[in-house]
Formats: sequence, structure tokens, C-alpha cells
Amino acid sequence: MNIQISERPEQLVAACAEHLISVLAESIEARGRARIALAGGSTPKSLYDHLASPALANRIDWGRVDCYFGDERAVPQGHPDSNFGMAQRHLFVPLGLPRDNQFPMISAPMGDLDAEADRYQALLAEWAEPEGPVFDLMLNGMGTDGHFASLFPGTPALTERDRWVVVNPVPQLSTQRLTLTFPVFERARHVCFLTAGADKRPAFQAIRQPDSDLPCAQLVRRRPTDWFVDRACTDTSD
Ligand code: 6PG
Repeated sequence: MNIQISERPEQLVAACAEHLISVLAESIEARGRARIALAGGSTPKSLYDHLASPALANRIDWGRVDCYFGDERAVPQGHPDSNFGMAQRHLFVPLGLPRDNQFPMISAPMGDLDAEADRYQALLAEWAEPEGPVFDLMLNGMGTDGHFASLFPGTPALTERDRWVVVNPVPQLSTQRLTLTFPVFERARHVCFLTAGADKRPAFQAIRQPDSDLPCAQLVRRRPTDWFVDRACTDTSD
């Protein structure tokens, strides 16, 4: 597990952006295209704004990048809570990313959730390796409860080992979620986390505890991960 600690928010997104730029360039060099799974949330959103800024917009050959999602809320694409809608506003539209490079998890109009999960599974199957889809980079935020994507503690999706995309009922949320499953995250070439704030400190400290069953901790034990965090998330001195 690689951890890069930044003192200020702008340093945090800059560090994560450089990692993403490096991984996508390497993928394009090696395979002609790159496939990335994006996350929702306010911390990833700040990264998207940075990536779409004039200083960075041309650092990635976005025409060769296919943008998927690690999870999605069960809302229409134009809903304020949609991860796809947020990525469109903060990354795709500012970049002028071709619509053919955008792969929302919920279609328009939104269909039956099980059908939406089946549709996304079939989309991944179009390019999956025999063992399953291999993303070049999967970007995640982390919740204060140690969830990532929509893999929340105590939910059925945590133990799914066959399907790559599932509907995951999360009792504490008013909206159902669709999420990629652990096998997809375990198989990716790179997985990184972008996390900030003192409220994330308990979960961040737990991921290094060998007996933690937080979803992030489970993934950290199963594969290499790269963490971009701020001082508040790590500092124990109050
Ligand atoms: C979502 C995300 C979720 C998010 C974390 C962190 O659909 O909300 O995929 O996993 O990344 O909850 O969100 P914040 O960065 O806003 O704390």
C-alpha cells in the first residue's frame, strides 16, 4: 500500500492527478487505449475539476480513454445525485470528452435496476479478459464508514464473487445503489484512493489493522493500492 500525504487540498488533487496521468499514459502506450472506473463524491469531484483545468486538460489523450463508473446511485442521469451527471459537469463537458468514451452505469431513461446491472455487465463483457474485466485504473473515494464505490459495510455486495455488477441495497441510504464488485477491483491494474478530512481518519487508520473488516481494509489486504490523503486524514495529534 503506497501512501502519499499532502498538506493542502490543492496538493492532494495534484498528486493524485499526476498518478492518474502516468497510469493512463502507460496504458495508452501499451495497449492503445485506457479504461478507467470513476467514483462519485466530493473528493473525486475536486480531482475532476483539476484534471479539466487548462493546466492539465491536455496532459492526457482523453480521446483514447474510456470512462466507466465504479458505482452509481439509482437515479436518472440528470439527477443532482448522479455520479455520471457529476462527472459530466466537472470532467467530460469541460474536456469535450466524446460521448462514445462515456459509459454511464444507469441508462437514459433509467430502467429496472436489475436490467441496468445486466446491461453494464454485458458492456464489460465486450472487452473483458477470460478471467473478467481488467480496468487500467479504478479511482475511489472512501466514506467515513470505510466504504468505497457502493460497497458498504454489512451489505450483500461485499460477498459477491461471480457477478461484476450488482444492485446493492444499502438500508441507511434512501437511494439504492449499483456497484462493481470485489473481483473487479481485485483484478484492476491500478486502484487508487483519494481521501481527505479528519472525519475519515478512523477508517483510514483501520485499513492497516489486519483484523479490520471495513470494505477498504478488505481490499487493501487483497491487492496493492495507492492512497492520496491529506494530513487531517492521517494526523493523530489533535
Ligand atoms: C458515491 C461514491 C462513494 C464516494 C465516497 C467518498 O457514489 O458517493 O462512489 O464511494 O466516493 O463516499 O465521498 P466523499 O469524497 O464525498 O467523502
